[in-house]
Amino acid sequence: NLLRTLPEPLLGWYRENARDLPWRHTEDPYRIWVSEIMLQQTRVAAVLGYYARFLAVFPTVEALAETDEELLMKLWEGLGYYSRARNLQKAAREITALGGFPDTYDGLLALPGIGDYTASAIAAAAFGRREPAVDGNVLRVMTRLTDCHDDISDPKTKRAVRAALAEVMPEEPADIRIFNQAMMELGATVCGPNTAPRCDDCPVSGLCLGRQRGTAETLPVKKTK
Ligand code: ADE
Repeated sequence: NLLRTLPEPLLGWYRENARDLPWRHTEDPYRIWVSEIMLQQTRVAAVLGYYARFLAVFPTVEALAETDEELLMKLWEGLGYYSRARNLQKAAREITALGGFPDTYDGLLALPGIGDYTASAIAAAAFGRREPAVDGNVLRVMTRLTDCHDDISDPKTKRAVRAALAEVMPEEPADIRIFNQAMMELGATVCGPNTAPRCDDCPVSGLCLGRQRGTAETLPVKKTK
């Protein structure tokens, strides 16, 4: 398995080069959750200010559970996709009723507004569970690394990528916590969309089949329906 050698250089690169983002300094599931919900449809630069204000007003999941909708919506104003905010509060009430955050993928997935990607992201970053989080960035990086030409809008492709990552994800909790972030960071900063990937700056270009075969720029394949 070619990808066995992925984690070590990837994590080394991440520790040296990752952007300094506030949700990367915490293991608090609440803070990680809020960041992932805001980042679902909004770019990092736009999220930063909202994130700080939101946590200043709602420092805990209990504070969010108890607020009135008007204040919540005022803090969300401008971020868009307002169902995210309503789901956030619904979930906050469920979490409070449970007596705390679920600490498993399945438990997290059962909450409103939390899908496969977000459940995995929180389970790994907050609880050190070996759950690969596969978003668009990770799909792009992985199809390029493995020279995979399958349609990424097909759920089967995402499942296969998730399975491949589950085989090579690190075992150490400290490494598990940052592995998903590192994959995403690579996709966001080096192995980007639309442009030629900056392979010279990539910590894992040596094992990248897409680079070796000259196909990286044509990947991922996304069939329009
Ligand atoms: N996009 C989605 N989740 C993210 C994260 N944790 N850091 C940066 N970009 C992201």
